[in-house]
Amino acid sequence: MKNTVTLTDNRNGKTYEFDILNGTMGPDVIDISTFFSQTGMFTFDRGYTSTAMCRSSITYIDGVKGELMHRGYDIAYLAKNKSFLDVAYLLLNKELPNEDEYKNFKQELKKRSYIHEGMMKIFDAFPSKAHPMAVLQASVSALSAFYSDHLNMDNPDEYREMAMRIIAKIPTIAAFSYRFSRGYPIIYPNLDRGFTENFLYMLRSYPYEHVDLKPIEVKALDTVFMLHADHEQNASTTTVRAVGSTHAHPYACIAAGIGALWGWAHGGANEGVIRQLEEIGTADNVDKYIARAKDKNDSFRLMGFGHRVYKNFDPRAKVLKKMCDELISQIGINTELLKIARKIEQIALTDEYFISRNLYPNVDFYSGIILKALGIPNEMFAVIFVIGRTPGWISQWIELKEQDSIKIVRPRQLYVGEKNRTPHE
Ligand code: CMC
Repeated sequence: MKNTVTLTDNRNGKTYEFDILNGTMGPDVIDISTFFSQTGMFTFDRGYTSTAMCRSSITYIDGVKGELMHRGYDIAYLAKNKSFLDVAYLLLNKELPNEDEYKNFKQELKKRSYIHEGMMKIFDAFPSKAHPMAVLQASVSALSAFYSDHLNMDNPDEYREMAMRIIAKIPTIAAFSYRFSRGYPIIYPNLDRGFTENFLYMLRSYPYEHVDLKPIEVKALDTVFMLHADHEQNASTTTVRAVGSTHAHPYACIAAGIGALWGWAHGGANEGVIRQLEEIGTADNVDKYIARAKDKNDSFRLMGFGHRVYKNFDPRAKVLKKMCDELISQIGINTELLKIARKIEQIALTDEYFISRNLYPNVDFYSGIILKALGIPNEMFAVIFVIGRTPGWISQWIELKEQDSIKIVRPRQLYVGEKNRTPHE
Protein backbone atom coordinates (compact mmCIF):
# COMPACT_ATOMS: atom_id res chain seq x y z
CA MET A 1 0.00 0.00 0.00
CA LYS A 2 1.20 3.52 -0.84
CA ASN A 3 2.37 5.68 2.03
CA THR A 4 -0.23 8.41 1.68
CA VAL A 5 -2.85 10.29 3.59
CA THR A 6 -6.23 11.18 2.11
CA LEU A 7 -8.01 14.41 2.86
CA THR A 8 -11.74 14.73 2.29
CA ASP A 9 -13.37 18.11 1.81
CA ASN A 10 -16.62 17.71 3.70
CA ARG A 11 -18.19 20.55 1.75
CA ASN A 12 -18.20 18.66 -1.54
CA GLY A 13 -16.87 15.15 -0.84
CA LYS A 14 -13.75 15.66 -2.99
CA THR A 15 -10.70 13.72 -1.86
CA TYR A 16 -7.01 14.58 -2.18
CA GLU A 17 -3.99 12.39 -1.61
CA PHE A 18 -0.66 13.41 -0.10
CA ASP A 19 2.54 11.43 0.32
CA ILE A 20 3.86 10.63 3.76
CA LEU A 21 7.61 11.09 4.14
CA ASN A 22 9.67 9.28 6.76
CA GLY A 23 12.72 10.67 8.49
CA THR A 24 15.29 8.54 10.34
CA MET A 25 13.80 9.66 13.66
CA GLY A 26 10.82 11.71 14.74
CA PRO A 27 7.28 12.09 13.43
CA ASP A 28 6.41 11.27 9.83
CA VAL A 29 5.71 14.27 7.62
CA ILE A 30 2.86 14.84 5.17
CA ASP A 31 4.20 16.35 1.95
CA ILE A 32 1.80 19.21 1.24
CA SER A 33 3.91 20.88 -1.43
CA THR A 34 1.11 20.09 -3.95
CA PHE A 35 -1.63 21.18 -1.53
CA PHE A 36 -2.47 24.43 -3.29
CA SER A 37 -2.26 22.99 -6.81
CA GLN A 38 -4.50 20.07 -5.79
CA THR A 39 -7.04 21.82 -3.56
CA GLY A 40 -6.84 25.53 -4.39
CA MET A 41 -6.45 26.14 -0.64
CA PHE A 42 -3.57 27.04 1.65
CA THR A 43 -2.80 25.46 5.00
CA PHE A 44 -2.82 27.62 8.14
CA ASP A 45 -0.16 27.09 10.81
CA ARG A 46 0.56 30.12 13.00
CA GLY A 47 4.14 29.97 14.28
CA TYR A 48 4.76 26.83 12.15
CA THR A 49 3.98 24.56 15.09
CA SER A 50 3.21 21.61 12.80
CA THR A 51 5.28 22.47 9.75
CA ALA A 52 8.62 20.98 8.71
CA MET A 53 10.25 23.66 6.54
CA CYS A 54 13.24 21.64 5.35
CA ARG A 55 15.04 18.30 5.34
CA SER A 56 17.98 18.36 7.72
CA SER A 57 20.55 15.94 9.07
CA ILE A 58 22.21 18.25 11.58
CA THR A 59 20.21 18.32 14.81
CA TYR A 60 17.40 16.18 16.16
CA ILE A 61 15.09 17.10 19.02
CA ASP A 62 12.47 14.94 20.69
CA GLY A 63 10.54 17.45 22.76
CA VAL A 64 8.47 14.83 24.56
CA LYS A 65 11.40 12.67 25.62
CA GLY A 66 13.62 15.73 26.20
CA GLU A 67 16.28 14.59 23.72
CA LEU A 68 18.74 16.69 21.73
CA MET A 69 21.29 15.20 19.31
CA HIS A 70 23.82 16.73 16.95
CA ARG A 71 24.68 14.53 13.95
CA GLY A 72 23.34 11.61 16.01
CA TYR A 73 25.38 12.29 19.19
CA ASP A 74 23.42 12.94 22.39
CA ILE A 75 24.03 16.35 23.96
CA ALA A 76 24.72 14.79 27.38
CA TYR A 77 27.56 12.72 25.83
CA LEU A 78 28.97 15.75 24.01
CA ALA A 79 28.78 17.99 27.09
CA LYS A 80 30.56 15.40 29.22
CA ASN A 81 33.30 14.46 26.77
CA LYS A 82 33.79 17.19 24.18
CA SER A 83 34.42 20.91 23.86
CA PHE A 84 32.51 23.64 22.04
CA LEU A 85 34.99 23.51 19.15
CA ASP A 86 34.49 19.73 18.81
CA VAL A 87 30.76 20.35 18.46
CA ALA A 88 31.28 23.26 16.06
CA TYR A 89 33.49 20.98 13.92
CA LEU A 90 30.89 18.20 14.13
CA LEU A 91 28.09 20.50 12.98
CA LEU A 92 30.15 21.80 10.06
CA ASN A 93 31.83 18.57 8.97
CA LYS A 94 29.33 15.86 10.01
CA GLU A 95 31.97 13.97 12.08
CA LEU A 96 33.76 14.66 15.35
CA PRO A 97 37.37 15.73 14.74
CA ASN A 98 40.35 13.49 15.52
CA GLU A 99 43.26 15.06 17.38
CA ASP A 100 44.95 16.50 14.28
CA GLU A 101 41.71 17.77 12.79
CA TYR A 102 40.86 19.45 16.09
CA LYS A 103 44.27 21.13 16.32
CA ASN A 104 44.05 22.32 12.74
CA PHE A 105 40.48 23.64 13.17
CA LYS A 106 41.49 25.54 16.31
CA GLN A 107 44.54 26.98 14.55
CA GLU A 108 42.54 28.04 11.49
CA LEU A 109 40.03 29.85 13.71
CA LYS A 110 42.82 31.58 15.65
CA LYS A 111 44.37 32.84 12.42
CA ARG A 112 41.09 34.47 11.50
CA SER A 113 40.22 35.93 14.91
CA TYR A 114 41.59 39.43 14.20
CA ILE A 115 39.31 41.96 12.55
CA HIS A 116 40.14 44.64 10.02
CA GLU A 117 41.32 47.80 11.85
CA GLY A 118 38.93 49.85 9.72
CA MET A 119 36.09 48.22 11.64
CA MET A 120 37.10 50.18 14.74
CA LYS A 121 35.31 53.17 13.24
CA ILE A 122 32.07 51.20 13.38
CA PHE A 123 32.40 50.65 17.13
CA ASP A 124 33.42 54.26 17.60
CA ALA A 125 30.38 55.55 15.74
CA PHE A 126 27.91 53.94 18.14
CA PRO A 127 26.73 55.81 21.24
CA SER A 128 28.25 54.37 24.41
CA LYS A 129 24.85 53.12 25.59
CA ALA A 130 24.35 51.06 22.41
CA HIS A 131 23.29 47.50 23.10
CA PRO A 132 26.13 45.12 22.07
CA MET A 133 23.63 43.13 19.98
CA ALA A 134 23.05 46.24 17.83
CA VAL A 135 26.80 46.68 17.37
CA LEU A 136 27.31 42.97 16.70
CA GLN A 137 24.54 42.81 14.10
CA ALA A 138 25.85 45.87 12.26
CA SER A 139 29.45 44.64 12.40
CA VAL A 140 28.66 41.15 11.10
CA SER A 141 26.80 42.73 8.23
CA ALA A 142 29.84 44.99 7.64
CA LEU A 143 32.17 41.96 7.41
CA SER A 144 31.01 41.51 3.82
CA ALA A 145 32.41 44.96 3.03
CA PHE A 146 35.72 44.48 4.86
CA TYR A 147 36.24 40.93 3.58
CA SER A 148 34.87 41.19 0.10
CA ASP A 149 37.03 38.37 -1.28
CA HIS A 150 35.75 34.80 -0.99
CA LEU A 151 32.18 35.88 -1.60
CA ASN A 152 31.54 33.38 -4.38
CA MET A 153 28.75 31.33 -2.94
CA ASP A 154 28.92 28.68 -5.63
CA ASN A 155 32.41 27.70 -4.59
CA PRO A 156 32.50 25.52 -1.44
CA ASP A 157 36.09 26.60 -0.65
CA GLU A 158 35.00 30.23 -0.66
CA TYR A 159 31.83 29.86 1.39
CA ARG A 160 33.65 27.63 3.87
CA GLU A 161 36.25 30.41 4.19
CA MET A 162 33.39 32.82 4.93
CA ALA A 163 32.06 30.36 7.51
CA MET A 164 35.42 30.13 9.31
CA ARG A 165 35.79 33.89 9.31
CA ILE A 166 32.37 34.42 10.83
CA ILE A 167 32.92 31.85 13.60
CA ALA A 168 36.40 33.23 14.35
CA LYS A 169 35.58 36.94 14.23
CA ILE A 170 32.25 37.07 16.08
CA PRO A 171 33.85 36.63 19.56
CA THR A 172 36.34 39.41 18.75
CA ILE A 173 33.59 41.73 17.52
CA ALA A 174 31.52 40.87 20.60
CA ALA A 175 34.37 41.60 23.01
CA PHE A 176 35.35 44.82 21.21
CA SER A 177 31.76 46.10 21.23
CA TYR A 178 31.64 45.57 24.98
CA ARG A 179 35.01 47.25 25.60
CA PHE A 180 34.01 50.22 23.44
CA SER A 181 30.65 50.60 25.21
CA ARG A 182 32.47 50.87 28.56
CA GLY A 183 35.32 53.00 27.26
CA TYR A 184 37.82 50.26 28.21
CA PRO A 185 40.99 49.68 26.16
CA ILE A 186 40.58 47.13 23.41
CA ILE A 187 42.18 43.77 24.11
CA TYR A 188 43.28 41.95 20.96
CA PRO A 189 42.90 38.17 20.63
CA ASN A 190 45.61 36.18 22.39
CA LEU A 191 46.57 33.34 20.09
CA ASP A 192 48.14 31.33 22.92
CA ARG A 193 44.74 30.82 24.47
CA GLY A 194 41.93 28.48 23.48
CA PHE A 195 38.75 29.76 21.76
CA THR A 196 36.62 30.21 24.89
CA GLU A 197 39.48 31.20 27.17
CA ASN A 198 40.51 33.87 24.68
CA PHE A 199 37.01 35.34 24.63
CA LEU A 200 36.90 35.60 28.43
CA TYR A 201 40.41 37.09 28.30
CA MET A 202 39.30 39.77 25.80
CA LEU A 203 36.37 40.68 28.07
CA ARG A 204 38.26 40.82 31.34
CA SER A 205 41.85 41.74 30.68
CA TYR A 206 43.71 45.07 30.87
CA PRO A 207 46.95 45.89 29.06
CA TYR A 208 50.03 44.65 30.94
CA GLU A 209 47.89 43.17 33.69
CA HIS A 210 47.74 39.52 34.66
CA VAL A 211 44.23 38.14 34.32
CA ASP A 212 43.10 35.23 36.41
CA LEU A 213 40.86 32.86 34.44
CA LYS A 214 39.89 29.84 36.49
CA PRO A 215 39.60 26.54 34.54
CA ILE A 216 36.06 26.05 35.92
CA GLU A 217 35.06 29.47 34.53
CA VAL A 218 36.39 28.60 31.08
CA LYS A 219 34.70 25.21 31.25
CA ALA A 220 31.36 26.76 32.30
CA LEU A 221 31.42 29.28 29.43
CA ASP A 222 32.52 26.61 26.96
CA THR A 223 29.56 24.48 28.07
CA VAL A 224 27.20 27.45 27.63
CA PHE A 225 28.56 27.97 24.08
CA MET A 226 28.23 24.26 23.31
CA LEU A 227 24.66 23.97 24.58
CA HIS A 228 23.62 26.82 22.33
CA ALA A 229 25.48 25.53 19.25
CA ASP A 230 22.44 24.42 17.28
CA HIS A 231 18.79 23.80 17.94
CA GLU A 232 17.09 22.59 14.81
CA GLN A 233 14.68 25.00 13.08
CA ASN A 234 14.24 27.61 15.81
CA ALA A 235 13.26 31.22 15.00
CA SER A 236 16.78 32.52 14.28
CA THR A 237 17.86 29.45 12.29
CA THR A 238 14.66 29.66 10.28
CA THR A 239 15.52 33.32 9.67
CA VAL A 240 19.04 32.38 8.50
CA ARG A 241 17.53 29.80 6.13
CA ALA A 242 14.84 32.20 4.90
CA VAL A 243 17.41 34.88 4.08
CA GLY A 244 19.73 32.21 2.62
CA SER A 245 16.90 31.03 0.37
CA THR A 246 17.13 34.36 -1.46
CA HIS A 247 20.80 33.56 -2.23
CA ALA A 248 22.08 36.26 0.13
CA HIS A 249 25.63 35.65 1.40
CA PRO A 250 26.23 34.18 4.88
CA TYR A 251 27.22 37.53 6.44
CA ALA A 252 23.76 38.89 5.59
CA CYS A 253 22.09 35.67 6.75
CA ILE A 254 23.92 35.59 10.08
CA ALA A 255 23.23 39.30 10.68
CA ALA A 256 19.52 38.56 10.16
CA GLY A 257 19.78 35.58 12.52
CA ILE A 258 21.26 37.87 15.18
CA GLY A 259 18.23 40.13 14.85
CA ALA A 260 15.85 37.21 15.28
CA LEU A 261 17.75 35.93 18.28
CA TRP A 262 17.61 39.24 20.13
CA GLY A 263 13.96 39.04 21.21
CA TRP A 264 13.05 37.94 24.75
CA ALA A 265 11.13 34.90 23.54
CA HIS A 266 14.38 33.55 22.06
CA GLY A 267 18.00 34.55 22.81
CA GLY A 268 17.06 37.62 24.81
CA ALA A 269 15.64 35.36 27.52
CA ASN A 270 18.88 34.81 29.46
CA GLU A 271 19.30 38.58 29.86
CA GLY A 272 15.59 38.70 30.75
CA VAL A 273 16.13 36.07 33.47
CA ILE A 274 18.70 38.17 35.31
CA ARG A 275 16.85 41.46 34.82
CA GLN A 276 13.76 39.79 36.24
CA LEU A 277 15.66 38.38 39.24
CA GLU A 278 17.05 41.88 39.83
CA GLU A 279 13.54 43.34 39.60
CA ILE A 280 12.22 40.78 42.10
CA GLY A 281 14.96 42.03 44.41
CA THR A 282 14.63 39.73 47.44
CA ALA A 283 13.58 36.13 48.01
CA ASP A 284 10.58 37.45 50.02
CA ASN A 285 9.12 38.96 46.84
CA VAL A 286 9.17 35.70 44.88
CA ASP A 287 5.61 34.61 45.80
CA LYS A 288 4.21 37.91 44.52
CA TYR A 289 5.89 37.42 41.12
CA ILE A 290 4.86 33.77 40.89
CA ALA A 291 1.26 34.92 41.45
CA ARG A 292 1.69 37.46 38.64
CA ALA A 293 3.05 34.76 36.28
CA LYS A 294 -0.07 32.69 36.97
CA ASP A 295 -2.52 35.56 36.60
CA LYS A 296 -4.37 35.37 33.26
CA ASN A 297 -4.91 39.14 33.29
CA ASP A 298 -1.22 39.91 33.73
CA SER A 299 1.12 39.61 30.75
CA PHE A 300 4.07 38.96 33.09
CA ARG A 301 5.96 35.72 32.32
CA LEU A 302 8.67 33.99 34.26
CA MET A 303 11.76 34.35 32.10
CA GLY A 304 13.69 31.12 31.61
CA PHE A 305 10.64 28.87 31.91
CA GLY A 306 8.81 26.99 29.17
CA HIS A 307 9.78 25.99 25.68
CA ARG A 308 7.96 25.63 22.38
CA VAL A 309 9.36 22.16 21.71
CA TYR A 310 10.42 20.65 25.05
CA LYS A 311 7.29 19.62 26.85
CA ASN A 312 9.01 17.43 29.42
CA PHE A 313 12.32 19.02 30.25
CA ASP A 314 15.03 20.85 28.35
CA PRO A 315 18.05 18.48 28.13
CA ARG A 316 20.34 21.50 27.83
CA ALA A 317 18.99 22.83 31.11
CA LYS A 318 19.77 19.50 32.78
CA VAL A 319 23.45 19.76 31.78
CA LEU A 320 23.68 23.45 32.64
CA LYS A 321 22.05 23.05 36.05
CA LYS A 322 24.87 20.65 36.99
CA MET A 323 27.48 23.01 35.55
CA CYS A 324 25.88 25.94 37.36
CA ASP A 325 25.98 24.12 40.75
CA GLU A 326 29.62 23.13 40.17
CA LEU A 327 30.67 26.66 39.19
CA ILE A 328 28.89 28.28 42.11
CA SER A 329 30.32 25.87 44.64
CA GLN A 330 33.86 26.22 43.22
CA ILE A 331 33.93 30.00 43.02
CA GLY A 332 31.92 30.26 46.23
CA ILE A 333 29.24 32.84 45.63
CA ASN A 334 25.94 33.15 47.45
CA THR A 335 24.16 36.30 46.34
CA GLU A 336 20.54 37.35 46.94
CA LEU A 337 20.02 36.83 43.20
CA LEU A 338 20.96 33.18 43.58
CA LYS A 339 18.61 32.75 46.51
CA ILE A 340 15.78 34.21 44.43
CA ALA A 341 16.66 31.93 41.51
CA ARG A 342 16.72 28.84 43.73
CA LYS A 343 13.35 29.74 45.26
CA ILE A 344 11.70 30.32 41.86
CA GLU A 345 13.14 27.09 40.50
CA GLN A 346 11.84 25.15 43.51
CA ILE A 347 8.33 26.67 43.36
CA ALA A 348 7.99 26.28 39.60
CA LEU A 349 9.00 22.61 39.77
CA THR A 350 6.28 21.86 42.32
CA ASP A 351 3.47 24.29 41.47
CA GLU A 352 0.41 22.91 39.66
CA TYR A 353 0.28 25.86 37.18
CA PHE A 354 3.80 25.18 35.91
CA ILE A 355 3.56 21.38 36.04
CA SER A 356 0.26 21.23 34.11
CA ARG A 357 1.69 23.48 31.36
CA ASN A 358 5.07 21.71 31.27
CA LEU A 359 6.87 24.89 32.19
CA TYR A 360 10.30 23.72 33.31
CA PRO A 361 13.44 25.82 33.66
CA ASN A 362 14.95 26.11 30.19
CA VAL A 363 18.54 26.55 29.04
CA ASP A 364 18.36 30.31 29.53
CA PHE A 365 17.45 30.08 33.19
CA TYR A 366 20.75 28.39 34.02
CA SER A 367 22.88 30.11 31.39
CA GLY A 368 21.70 33.46 32.80
CA ILE A 369 22.82 32.44 36.30
CA ILE A 370 26.16 31.05 35.02
CA LEU A 371 26.95 34.19 33.01
CA LYS A 372 26.09 36.38 35.98
CA ALA A 373 28.36 34.26 38.20
CA LEU A 374 31.14 34.73 35.61
CA GLY A 375 30.78 38.50 36.01
CA ILE A 376 29.59 38.94 32.43
CA PRO A 377 27.37 42.03 32.12
CA ASN A 378 23.66 41.41 31.43
CA GLU A 379 23.70 43.14 28.06
CA MET A 380 26.30 40.61 26.80
CA PHE A 381 24.14 37.54 27.47
CA ALA A 382 22.39 37.40 24.09
CA VAL A 383 25.77 38.06 22.46
CA ILE A 384 27.13 34.95 24.19
CA PHE A 385 24.17 33.02 22.77
CA VAL A 386 25.14 34.32 19.30
CA ILE A 387 28.76 33.13 19.69
CA GLY A 388 27.47 29.68 20.62
CA ARG A 389 24.81 29.53 17.89
CA THR A 390 26.99 30.74 15.01
CA PRO A 391 28.40 27.29 14.03
CA GLY A 392 24.82 25.98 13.96
CA TRP A 393 23.57 28.81 11.76
CA ILE A 394 26.51 28.39 9.38
CA SER A 395 26.05 24.61 9.20
CA GLN A 396 22.36 25.08 8.42
CA TRP A 397 23.29 27.63 5.74
CA ILE A 398 25.78 25.18 4.19
CA GLU A 399 23.19 22.40 4.29
CA LEU A 400 20.68 24.66 2.54
CA LYS A 401 23.31 25.60 -0.02
CA GLU A 402 24.30 22.00 -0.69
CA GLN A 403 20.80 20.67 -1.17
CA ASP A 404 19.67 19.80 -4.71
CA SER A 405 17.95 23.10 -5.29
CA ILE A 406 17.07 26.09 -3.15
CA LYS A 407 13.42 27.06 -2.96
CA ILE A 408 12.85 30.64 -1.86
CA VAL A 409 10.96 30.77 1.45
CA ARG A 410 7.64 32.39 0.60
CA PRO A 411 4.72 31.42 2.87
CA ARG A 412 1.14 32.40 2.07
CA GLN A 413 -1.51 34.03 4.26
CA LEU A 414 -5.14 34.00 5.22
CA TYR A 415 -6.21 37.46 4.08
CA VAL A 416 -8.75 39.00 6.47
CA GLY A 417 -8.62 42.64 5.39
CA GLU A 418 -10.92 44.92 3.45
CA LYS A 419 -11.96 44.01 -0.07
CA ASN A 420 -12.73 45.99 -3.19
CA ARG A 421 -13.10 49.36 -1.47
CA THR A 422 -14.33 52.27 -3.53
CA PRO A 423 -12.04 55.27 -3.19
CA HIS A 424 -13.80 58.38 -1.83
CA GLU A 425 -13.33 61.50 -3.94
N1 CMC B 1 5.60 32.03 32.63
C1 CMC B 1 4.28 31.91 32.89
N2 CMC B 1 3.40 31.29 32.07
C2 CMC B 1 3.87 30.79 30.91
C3 CMC B 1 5.24 30.89 30.56
C4 CMC B 1 6.11 31.52 31.46
N3 CMC B 1 7.41 31.64 31.19
N4 CMC B 1 5.45 30.31 29.35
C5 CMC B 1 4.25 29.87 28.94
N5 CMC B 1 3.29 30.15 29.89
C6 CMC B 1 1.88 29.75 29.85
C7 CMC B 1 1.08 30.63 28.88
O1 CMC B 1 0.52 31.75 29.55
C8 CMC B 1 0.04 29.64 28.42
O2 CMC B 1 -0.92 29.50 29.46
P1 CMC B 1 -2.48 29.18 29.11
O3 CMC B 1 -2.45 27.82 28.44
O4 CMC B 1 -3.18 29.21 30.42
O5 CMC B 1 -2.90 30.26 28.15
C9 CMC B 1 0.80 28.32 28.32
O6 CMC B 1 1.84 28.43 29.31
C10 CMC B 1 1.40 28.02 26.94
O7 CMC B 1 2.18 29.17 26.54
P2 CMC B 1 2.52 29.52 25.02
O8 CMC B 1 2.97 30.95 24.94
O9 CMC B 1 1.37 29.12 24.15
O10 CMC B 1 3.73 28.54 24.74
P3 CMC B 1 4.74 28.62 23.52
O11 CMC B 1 5.22 27.23 23.32
O12 CMC B 1 4.15 29.34 22.35
O13 CMC B 1 5.90 29.57 24.08
C11 CMC B 1 7.90 30.32 25.09
C12 CMC B 1 7.18 29.13 24.43
C13 CMC B 1 9.37 29.91 25.31
C14 CMC B 1 7.89 31.55 24.15
C15 CMC B 1 7.21 30.66 26.42
O14 CMC B 1 7.22 29.55 27.29
C16 CMC B 1 7.84 31.88 27.12
O15 CMC B 1 7.42 33.00 26.83
N6 CMC B 1 8.83 31.66 28.03
C17 CMC B 1 9.54 32.75 28.67
C18 CMC B 1 10.65 33.27 27.76
C19 CMC B 1 11.80 32.28 27.65
O16 CMC B 1 12.27 31.75 28.65
N7 CMC B 1 12.28 32.07 26.40
C20 CMC B 1 13.44 31.21 26.13
C21 CMC B 1 13.10 29.97 25.42
S1 CMC B 1 14.43 28.78 25.44
C22 CMC B 1 15.67 29.50 24.48
C23 CMC B 1 15.55 29.19 23.05
O17 CMC B 1 15.63 28.00 22.69
O18 CMC B 1 15.39 30.13 22.26
